[in-house]
Amino acid sequence: MTARYAFKFSLATLVFSRLASAQVPGTGTPEVHPKLPTYKCTTSGGCVMQDTSVVLDWNYRYIHSGSTSCTTSSGVNTALCPNQATCSANCQIEGVDYAAAGVTTSGNAVTMYQYKTANGKTSSVSPRIYLLGPDGNYVMMKLNGQELSFDVDLSTLPCGENGALYLSEMSATGGRNTNNPGGANYGSGYCDAQCPYETWRNGTIDSAGPFCCNEMDILEANSRANAFTPHPCTTNDCDKGGCGFNPYASGYHNYWAPGGTLDTSKPFTVITQFVTSDGSQSGSLTTITRKYIQNGRQIASAVSSGDSVYANNCQSGAPYGGLNTMGQALARGMVLIFSIWNDAGQNMNWLDSGSSGPCSSTEGAPSNILANNPNTHVIFSNIRWGDIGSTTGGIIVSSSSSTTRTTTTSSRTTTTSSRTTTTSSRTTTTTTTSSRTTTTSSRTTTPSTTTTTTTRTTTANGAQQTHWGQCGGIGWTGPTACSDGFSCSVLNPYYSQCL
Ligand SMILES: *[C@@H]1O[C@H](CO)[C@@H](O)[C@H](O)[C@H]1NC(C)=O
Repeated sequence: MTARYAFKFSLATLVFSRLASAQVPGTGTPEVHPKLPTYKCTTSGGCVMQDTSVVLDWNYRYIHSGSTSCTTSSGVNTALCPNQATCSANCQIEGVDYAAAGVTTSGNAVTMYQYKTANGKTSSVSPRIYLLGPDGNYVMMKLNGQELSFDVDLSTLPCGENGALYLSEMSATGGRNTNNPGGANYGSGYCDAQCPYETWRNGTIDSAGPFCCNEMDILEANSRANAFTPHPCTTNDCDKGGCGFNPYASGYHNYWAPGGTLDTSKPFTVITQFVTSDGSQSGSLTTITRKYIQNGRQIASAVSSGDSVYANNCQSGAPYGGLNTMGQALARGMVLIFSIWNDAGQNMNWLDSGSSGPCSSTEGAPSNILANNPNTHVIFSNIRWGDIGSTTGGIIVSSSSSTTRTTTTSSRTTTTSSRTTTTSSRTTTTTTTSSRTTTTSSRTTTPSTTTTTTTRTTTANGAQQTHWGQCGGIGWTGPTACSDGFSCSVLNPYYSQCL
């Protein structure tokens, strides 16, 4: 990493001195990716540690020309960024202080906070990060016919909070090109099955859209509810609601709960298997199956036949090719994404309220979470992927949902104790703010039909700025008041935002 960055910053300095500036990594804050070792496993060779790290999304960063931000509440500063090449020549993108952005790593664990406190003020940081390989590109996980496992501690996530681990078919380089030399190293190229319109599409200004990508939600969860959901896409549209599996929605109300069958007040291991028609990595994806390990033993599935999504059982996915499309994306490779978020628009009701979970429709309001759970955070650790049965130290060896075999107590105990150890010990104390200029998609779901729509953050025309919009900073002449429920937070001298 040191050599890579030494090169990057000497290059940045060279370009800076010749051209005045460029949309290259800036010189204000170095980008130092927190290390997050992961493990790639095979049945024959066991698990091999990977030299991986995490990178914060592009939109959370300070992009500027001298002391002027290149990003505004409505998108970009059109004087500095009339087109991609000029924008790239005028603007620099800075590294971030990860702890201030709510992200810390320790061993093979990453902890993500919804809120951070700086100068006595607590603000939402809601980080989204990607798994980065040692080559500066995203790790492309190829999981068709394979499995992914990890440990999670979501005990502090209340109703309305979403600790998410998912896959999206982003470009491996983040769309790196001459106008975006940082690419994946600076977290560019986000896309998902809500088909967002990205101001910085692939790290260059581009208001065209939508930016649809196949998405596999491995875990969207808090301590009260969870779902895993494939979202296959065609070129310009996706199965936005998806055919997910949620044990509460299936009638099992004490499965995923504090003190429940799976005790969400404690860490556990989540295993997701992508079973193909012929068991090979090139076969068509027929079943996605979920398994859990807690306290050294496999927890029985909520549904006796296995907690699964089946290819022949998803009507909303059918127009998009269903699990077959999802399997093709998983075979090509998808980027691993971690996020923590909440949602003032819908209070995350689609996940944990009504028929989906035990939460009331209002208790997931961000203002309620901030008041009662400002420390809410999620810890993901011990991320392993590879052949089915190879990632859990021999605890689970079956590849079908209906036959689950377990091995000896000693191997289970050994594996689980190391997992639990890495999951449980970490705290974060850094409390400065980060620059953040992202727009978010909020999901709207009616529990009975599981449809989802995307709501984009828009710019306020009046005196009040909307959520995420700019509300102050040097040179800012727009609205300085925020709409109901949000307050203007100073992120840096040049950018204040309604959070
Ligand atoms: C992003 O960049 C990648 C790699 O250059 C490219 O394949 C992909 O089509 C781009 N996506 C969009 C939406 O522009």
